[in-house]
Amino acid sequence: MKYGAVIFDLDGVICSTDEYHYRAWKVLADRLGIPFDRERNNLLRGVSRMESLEIILEKSEKRYTQAEKESLAAEKNELYRQLLGNMTPADLPEDVKRTLDALRAEGIPMAIGSSSKNTPYILERIGLGHFFDAVADGNMITRSKPDPEVFLKAAELLRRAPEECLVVEDARAGVEAARRGGFACAAIGDAKGDPRAQYHLEKLSDLLNL
Ligand code: BG6
Ligand code: MG
Repeated sequence: MKYGAVIFDLDGVICSTDEYHYRAWKVLADRLGIPFDRERNNLLRGVSRMESLEIILEKSEKRYTQAEKESLAAEKNELYRQLLGNMTPADLPEDVKRTLDALRAEGIPMAIGSSSKNTPYILERIGLGHFFDAVADGNMITRSKPDPEVFLKAAELLRRAPEECLVVEDARAGVEAARRGGFACAAIGDAKGDPRAQYHLEKLSDLLNL
């Protein structure tokens, strides 16, 4: 690894909680009669809960008040947390575990940079509650991706400059956030083909060849 530190996005990079976000939003959208599918769901990757709701409501004919929106976001979060509650360390994919262990053995500092306010809970569920050297998440920021705030916060906690760090992202908004913050980026999953990323990963362990 030629970078001095790695900052990982969480949902869709470390674990498949991106799928649970989709399922929870889908239940809500169906209840409200709003068209929503996996393609539209890709627009929600990396963006905050409230901004995600706004994107979903763009397809609604009904206008919602701020109080109604807050209640809908809370309803989605409850559905999502029920799914998270079933997660165990077995939900940490083998390839991810192997990659994290190899980077740790190399002495590479590692952080999480996620827009999610559920980050501490998820890390706990999958057995990574104490693994990372730093965690920057949705509870610590005011602007979500594509703003670089969460990655800058993670780099600051690691005491590394952005140009020393590699960001790993599955969200197009996250790839853009890395670019704006002056970070190199390895894109995976939905963002894999994004030309703004320097590296394109089939699987997380491809990081070990960089
Ligand atoms: C990001 C996800 O990690 O977290 C987004 O990619 C999600 O889809 C965002 O909206 C906020 O998550 P939470 O857990 O705070 O609702
Ligand atoms: Mg993600």
